[in-house]
Amino acid sequence: MKISNDIKKILINENDLNQRINELAVSLTNEYNDKNPIILSLLKGSVPFTSELSKRLDFPLEFDYMKPSSYVGTKSSGEVQIQIKPTLDLKNRHVLVVEDIIDTGRTLYIVKELLKTVYHVKSVKIVALLDKKEMRVCDIDPDFTGFLIPNEFVVGFGLDYNEQYRNLPYIGVLKEEIYQK
Ligand code: IMP
Ligand code: MG
Repeated sequence: MKISNDIKKILINENDLNQRINELAVSLTNEYNDKNPIILSLLKGSVPFTSELSKRLDFPLEFDYMKPSSYVGTKSSGEVQIQIKPTLDLKNRHVLVVEDIIDTGRTLYIVKELLKTVYHVKSVKIVALLDKKEMRVCDIDPDFTGFLIPNEFVVGFGLDYNEQYRNLPYIGVLKEEIYQK
């Protein structure tokens, strides 16, 4: 059974992902070359992006991971919980949050506030591979963005539908019949 058969169209192919990630790596090198940042990858969707991006960063850095719970539709931004916490001491460190996609902005808004007020980081910036800007309800934007995309549900390169499709090498739009099952 091929999961690629469930894809209606490829929105961003592997080649375009690679090219854009190269460009993001140049920007991040300019920003973090001499800062020994902590690359804070938000689980699970950001793992492939973090991996591809960090291969292209030729300067000292450390990795950590955080898993904010997915919020339930109508709950306020205050309801975002941290299911897996970072293990490094983030205090007074430059932290780069790596996220697969920013949609309403609730998750990143809370994560950024927590890093400032609870973890007392020296600085926090965000790199998001994808941005559905028209969906934003919180006042937050990534500092570095891969691609602006329309409001379509996408999967692949870490992004899932019911935990499936994360292993596709591109960003694709699912066929409607998959949702209707
Ligand atoms: P936000 O808090 O609304 O910005 O939500 C961001 C999170 O929603 C992402 O980390 C994803 O887990 C999820 N998400 C939003 N849009 C999509 C999509 O099109 N495909 C898969 N996951 C998505
Ligand atoms: Mg996510």
